[in-house]
Amino acid sequence: MADTEAGTGRERPIVIVGASLGGAKAAEALRDAGYRGGIVLIGEEHERPYERPPLSKGYLLGKEPREKIYVHPPQWYADHDVTLRLGTRVASIDPARHTVTLADDGRVEYAKLLLTTGSVPRRLPVPGADLDGVLYLRRVEDSDRIKAALRPGARIAVIGAGWIGLEVAAAARTAGAEVTVLEALELPLLRVLGREVAQVFADLHRDHGVDLRFGVQVTELTGAGGTVSGVRLGDGTELAADAVVVGIGISPATELAEAAGLEVDNGIKTDQRLRTSDPDVHAAGDVANAYHPLFGTHIRVEHWANALNQPQTAARAMLGHPDAVHDRVPYFFTDQYDLGMEYLGYVAPGGYDRVVFRGDPVTREFIAFWLTGGRVLAGMNVNVWDVTDPIRELIVSQRQVDPDRLADPTIPLGEV
Ligand SMILES: Cc1cc2nc3c(=O)[nH]c(=O)nc-3n(C[C@H](O)[C@H](O)[C@H](O)COP(=O)(O)OP(=O)(O)OC[C@H]3O[C@@H](n4cnc5c(N)ncnc54)[C@H](O)[C@@H]3O)c2cc1C
Ligand SMILES: NC(=O)c1ccc[n+]([C@@H]2O[C@H](COP(=O)([O-])OP(=O)(O)OC[C@H]3O[C@@H](n4cnc5c(N)ncnc54)[C@H](O)[C@@H]3O)[C@@H](O)[C@H]2O)c1
Repeated sequence: MADTEAGTGRERPIVIVGASLGGAKAAEALRDAGYRGGIVLIGEEHERPYERPPLSKGYLLGKEPREKIYVHPPQWYADHDVTLRLGTRVASIDPARHTVTLADDGRVEYAKLLLTTGSVPRRLPVPGADLDGVLYLRRVEDSDRIKAALRPGARIAVIGAGWIGLEVAAAARTAGAEVTVLEALELPLLRVLGREVAQVFADLHRDHGVDLRFGVQVTELTGAGGTVSGVRLGDGTELAADAVVVGIGISPATELAEAAGLEVDNGIKTDQRLRTSDPDVHAAGDVANAYHPLFGTHIRVEHWANALNQPQTAARAMLGHPDAVHDRVPYFFTDQYDLGMEYLGYVAPGGYDRVVFRGDPVTREFIAFWLTGGRVLAGMNVNVWDVTDPIRELIVSQRQVDPDRLADPTIPLGEV
């Protein structure tokens, strides 16, 4: 990294924009890989990098203390000579000058730039959506606000039956609140899981007393005195609500990249080394639409393990290691009530021709496999543990499997 800062003779640092899981893990990976130059990690939030999964689970339930959510202890950044600039928004990138401009007009030069700007919640586009008590969940302070609303007997309307909606519904029921979930499609998690497995999550929440309403259109949030008091649906139904939690998906935070002229298409487009259309700019985490050699296409993964692992590849690629390629099988997990699950693989919406269950889904102790042309694309283990290695092997090998043997729990997964 021979680049020097204009007029100073100092070596330019590696700059990371986005100080969350992806950014913090990239700084760590650079040091692990032996890089001794400067690292500047810039983040808009005021908290040091933290993980988001507890915000809709243990932390929201009050079971996990705040200290547990952070990626590193405060001292870690100084100990590893990482300059952490919190509460600082990057306003623009000048790829030709190798410079980022901060919202307060400061400028930072870079030798290499990594964008881990993540994603932002989609806003509900209806009248009343800006009333007090309409809550989104992305940051730790959002989780604090929702936690305060989850009182026994409180009426909580959740809009969107995706991961946020279902995990918040589970936490709300656990806290003793009355919960109604309003979803536009016919089942929860339909686009990611498909009809067969989505039904398992619908049954789970119904069994825990959630009022699930599918195929509904939210037309307005009603309020009194500036605070939300209800939800109006397209068929004229009105529901009373003490708080409304909106989880209707996210958009990748691509504005900086777009304005800088980088290729953007459903996220910042990268190659398998996580390099963007500018060779000195890389991207990782929720914001990266990365070419995946196993699937032969670009995929953008909005999950924790991706923000944990992609930065290792990005860091090594920025340092010029030729073997730095991101080809890991995507992985994610959820915990809702007493259901814990892990999912490995990738299936485009509707991109499978068959689901095979090993175990009965009604018992909520099973493995589901999504297949196309007799090959396993993805597997999800529900309340069954220590099976991710053989599931990953089935996906990576891309071999033909016998569906009857796949369904038979007496046959080891390695022998189907
Ligand atoms: C409540 C919740 C629960 C979740 N639970 C799970 C789970 O159980 N399992 C799972 O697999 N995944 C889960 N996820 C998803 C997972 O947390 C994300 O995939 C992960 O946070 C992505 O990390 P990231 O670093 O790429 O981006 P983000 O976490 O979005 O962080 C991006 C950071 O960049 C900052 N930033 C953006 N633009 C700028 C700018 N211009 N200047 C400075 N800073 C900027 C943002 O403020 C933010 O701090 C959950 C997400 C949420 C919100
Ligand atoms: N366990 C996990 O992996 C986990 C947990 C929480 C959050 N996350 C991540 O957080 C992000 C946000 O989660 P999310 O649940 O908001 O997104 P999502 O994409 O998982 O689900 C959004 C849901 O909202 C529905 N929807 C969209 N518009 C609607 C409308 N106007 N009215 C009613 N329903 C509508 C969609 O059909 C979908 O079911 C995602 O990236 C997700 O992967 C992951």
